[in-house]
Amino acid sequence: MYPDRVVSGMRPTGTMHLGHYHGALKNWIRMQSQQPCLFFVADWHALTTHYDDPAIIERSTWDMLVDWLAAGIDPSQATLFIQSRVPEHAELHLLLSMATPLGWLERVPTYKDQIDNLSNKDLATYGFLGYPLLQAADVLIYRATQVPVGDDQVPHIEMMREIARRFNHMYGKEKGFEEKAMEAVKKLGSKRARLYLELRTGYQQDGKDDALEQAHAMLNDAQSLSMIDRERLFGYLEGSRKLILVEPQAKLTVASRLPGLDGRKMSKSYGNAISLREDKESVVKKVRTMPTDPARVRRTDAGDPRTCPVWQLHKVYSDEATRDWVVKGCTTAGIGCIECKQPVIDAIVKEQEPMHERAQQYLDDPSLVRAIVADGCETARKLAQETMRDVREAMGLAYT
Ligand code: TRP
Ligand code: SF4
Repeated sequence: MYPDRVVSGMRPTGTMHLGHYHGALKNWIRMQSQQPCLFFVADWHALTTHYDDPAIIERSTWDMLVDWLAAGIDPSQATLFIQSRVPEHAELHLLLSMATPLGWLERVPTYKDQIDNLSNKDLATYGFLGYPLLQAADVLIYRATQVPVGDDQVPHIEMMREIARRFNHMYGKEKGFEEKAMEAVKKLGSKRARLYLELRTGYQQDGKDDALEQAHAMLNDAQSLSMIDRERLFGYLEGSRKLILVEPQAKLTVASRLPGLDGRKMSKSYGNAISLREDKESVVKKVRTMPTDPARVRRTDAGDPRTCPVWQLHKVYSDEATRDWVVKGCTTAGIGCIECKQPVIDAIVKEQEPMHERAQQYLDDPSLVRAIVADGCETARKLAQETMRDVREAMGLAYT
């Protein structure tokens, strides 16, 4: 089977805020030390909705990369790149489009939702309909096994799995596949070969999932196999096809959803966001002026944290002792709101301090970011080209 690999992207459509950090970046940072990770700026995806105003995309792309680095994405662990710099994504998108039923795209829930939500834009375009298919290409081109995303993206991942399955089914038929697979079986050595065939029967005839798992484990251990033979044997286990593309899994963000300054979801368009590298003075000012329990008019009125957006932030940023202090102080009018906000201010400022520090070197010398991305694009491109070689061959476009 193909090795574990993580791929995820973000659209560069504006400044990143702390909601992005808690909702996605923290997860990426956790994953980067555990598996090979590729993180990219989805600039083509940004164009699907911002095609009439692309200026924001270029600026946001560089800002976003600095934000990622500032937040702790480590270019010596993860590969960072820009989608459009790996044009193979577009080729795969085109090739996948040939066999993708329109209905699959029209049925993706984000499609109609976004058209309704962004009613000020004309999204009845070819590019926007293809959004999830381009996303499928982004992931499938790296044979990624895991895609960290928010739950709104799960239907997109499900669709990519279907696309991969259909592709393997349609194009995974190799001339003489069975013969080649049997030759590969022999290379396992007689004892393993026998076990392999037993497990295959166990899975195919008796539907034993553990037999499939055991066979996968054995193949992964079989050092003597070439990559291509291993792929054949993986494919042969489940049927008589080669697995050209891998079905990825959604890796749901174990995120704390960070609410904005007004208690609604943090979003630039609501004007309730704190940006990732916001000035300290501005953080202090924003939190000091944020609304509190509307029923607590005077300092002497008791309040109710449940109807206060500040409490939402305490839930993310404060330890239990502080939260107890808030609940008690608020409901007895023992503390004032300015006092209550201070621990939140301190926690945000503390969270952002290392980000400001890490960002500084990149702001002083932007060529560092350019170099990191140039490197990442090269690494990504090599991987993408490997997959495209197999894809072209499978679709009869090798012309050798
Ligand atoms: N659609 C994703 C979002 O809006 C961004 C994205 C584009 C993406 N390509 C991707 C995410 C590939 C994961 C994998 O958040
Ligand atoms: Fe909100 Fe704290 Fe004021 Fe209570 S004391 S209303 S929780 S800011």
